[in-house]
Amino acid sequence: MSLGKIIDTKNNDLFKRIDKQKVPEHVAIIMDGNGRWATKKGLPRTYGHKRGVDVLKKILKASKKLGCKVLTVYAFSTENWTRPTKEVDFLINLFNEVLKNEIKEIHEESTKIKFIGDLTPFPETLKKIISSSESLTKDNNAFLLNVCVNYGGRQEIVKVAKELALKCSSGEIKLSEVNEELFNSELLTRGIKDPELLIRTSGEKRISNFLLWQLAYSEIYISEVLWPDFNEFEFLKAIIDYQSRDRRFGGIKSLPNESFEDSQYSS
Ligand code: FPP
Repeated sequence: MSLGKIIDTKNNDLFKRIDKQKVPEHVAIIMDGNGRWATKKGLPRTYGHKRGVDVLKKILKASKKLGCKVLTVYAFSTENWTRPTKEVDFLINLFNEVLKNEIKEIHEESTKIKFIGDLTPFPETLKKIISSSESLTKDNNAFLLNVCVNYGGRQEIVKVAKELALKCSSGEIKLSEVNEELFNSELLTRGIKDPELLIRTSGEKRISNFLLWQLAYSEIYISEVLWPDFNEFEFLKAIIDYQSRDRRFGGIKSLPNESFEDSQYSS
């Protein structure tokens, strides 16, 4: 049997184990480990990012196949500007190239692409291609791909707080009207359901300023695999693990014959 066939069989076996009724609608991913992957191989870090794009394409396909509806990926954080200029320039150029080469297929598959973050510091050429990609795909409804660039969760929360404060001081809204729902409606992700699952690759166990508000009740899955080695098999493993979780949202699971005293310590 060829290696490709063996991989397909392994993936199919895992795929069959997934409860199609309990597939997360929205999966968020911190695609970590590109640099380490390349360095381990004696290659420049940029090779890891390039390979990372191929992996993202595969995971996008896998999540559609599974029935997920939204994928949100962390492609460039507000902290990534501190990397060497050469690497930052490479990433900016990579975003450009990916959009140029992939937007046709993304559109044909009725996927909507949205960039989340402060685009102001990016070069005009990138801003233009982002804007044209977003407007081309804006009415697509089979799938939503959110790409977070120059994004920071704290910055997003501060921005919303300022907007609400401004509305309060101008009298547009009352302080008593400020609640979670209103806060949600001002977020960059407004209108999008919060992720049920966050996957972070490369074994790091941090949120790293990603979707701080939106991840409040998300299940977190840490994969030891570096992003360039992540694949459909690893993705399916994350979904199966997610499906084994008991999501209580801070409440308690009511079991038959279970008294409050028995269950009060579960959270
Ligand atoms: C983290 O690995 C990865 C990034 C900062 C960049 C990820 C970007 C892509 C895969 C390109 C996606 C492109 C589009 C248009 C969606 P790292 O460099 O932090 O790795 P390290 O922790 O090993 O140093």
